[in-house]
Amino acid sequence: MAATNEIRRITPAGPLRGELRVPGDKSISHRALICNALATGEARVSNLLDSADCRSTIACLEQWGASFEQADGDLIVRSPGQHAFHPASRILDCGNSGTSIRLLAGVAAGLPFASTFDGDQYLRRRPMARILEPLASMGARVSGAEAGTRAPFTVDGSNGLNSGFQGELAVASAQVKSCIILAALRAGQPSWIVEPGPTRDHTERMLTAMGAEIAVNGAEVTIRPGADLKPRDVEVPGDISAAAFWIIAAAIVPGSELCLPNVGINPRRTGVIDVLRNMGAKIDFTNPRDVSGEPVADILVQASTLRGTVIDGDLIVRALDELPALAVAASAAEGVTEIRDAAELRVKESDRIASTTALLTHMGTDLEAGARVEERPDGMRIVGGQLRGAPVQSFGDHRLAMAAAVAALAADGQTEIHGAESVGISYPEFWQHLNRISNGAAA
Ligand code: S3P
Repeated sequence: MAATNEIRRITPAGPLRGELRVPGDKSISHRALICNALATGEARVSNLLDSADCRSTIACLEQWGASFEQADGDLIVRSPGQHAFHPASRILDCGNSGTSIRLLAGVAAGLPFASTFDGDQYLRRRPMARILEPLASMGARVSGAEAGTRAPFTVDGSNGLNSGFQGELAVASAQVKSCIILAALRAGQPSWIVEPGPTRDHTERMLTAMGAEIAVNGAEVTIRPGADLKPRDVEVPGDISAAAFWIIAAAIVPGSELCLPNVGINPRRTGVIDVLRNMGAKIDFTNPRDVSGEPVADILVQASTLRGTVIDGDLIVRALDELPALAVAASAAEGVTEIRDAAELRVKESDRIASTTALLTHMGTDLEAGARVEERPDGMRIVGGQLRGAPVQSFGDHRLAMAAAVAALAADGQTEIHGAESVGISYPEFWQHLNRISNGAAA
């Protein structure tokens, strides 16, 4: 991903209209692959996200002995089961994917051999002590770069996991929680995890449906090891984190009206909707239903005048990946928006506080009536105003590239996005979809 530098030019062409099916949810796709690979047998996954991150997970699971086959647009997962996995013949390369490396490290802790993980230049910068320390406390032998805090790292479960995990997590992170849950399934004792915030619960939902003994009580998750997991067909809902770019674009480009069918609306993922409604956005959910144990609806959004707001506390946890795009919404809104309690953004695919600040600075501050943004240690203060087209960078971060495209649709003049190829991490069809609803704004 890092070697190329694709440039996309966006020239706004009026309201966004029509219907778009966003790709399958990235978090649920990873879990459908990983959880089914732990079980013995076969499962069919439909609407799986086919992106670079999910391919990283597939390549790692193949190394341990699972196999995958395309069938009529679905993916069949076949596995001998976790107990029959064999050592990988090479380093497990997770590319850019934090979800792959952190969840698979949890699986590795329950395997009777060593597994070594690595990733690209961006993943190598991300914190790994948050998973390696809990795994070590459960009995895994771990070692890693920079005193065990970064990839590449090795997780060796050959001594067995004699202890369960007991305690509160230092950060609200679904990847850390899921890593510990996946290890806890193979531990010698029950585990008990307390979360500091309501992170996404897709792992708990899916493993419970497959027969794991997991109890959730508010912020507490208890895992009893040893259950026999059964493979389970999964229909992956559309990704609300992908839909968020179109929801925000339609909310801020005057005259827009968009329908986004079949989007996951798990309450731990809908912070973006709550924030936008607080800002005055017109968003409706229709046809609510359950799909493979996850709540799903069709989303209708219409343009309206947005006003500034405060985004903090649990809303940050529930809108985590959408904060760069929400910062774009704030810069197109009337008044001031404050984003607080969001220091976790600094350790994402890029430092998203710094990269979002750079994006909005390039697209606003020079104008008298321009949007203004001020970087804070744990967030941003944004004064809404007119955005203006400018050359901007993705910083190798897929969500920054897509947030820049949304800003470009609401800007005066042309925007040039450098590093546009990074959308392939989570949304390979992003530019085609943008052109479909925007009268061909992207070239
Ligand atoms: C994810 C959890 C979040 C999120 C990431 C996907 C997951 O990361 O930002 O895009 O699938 O569990 P953290 O757990 O690091 O907060």
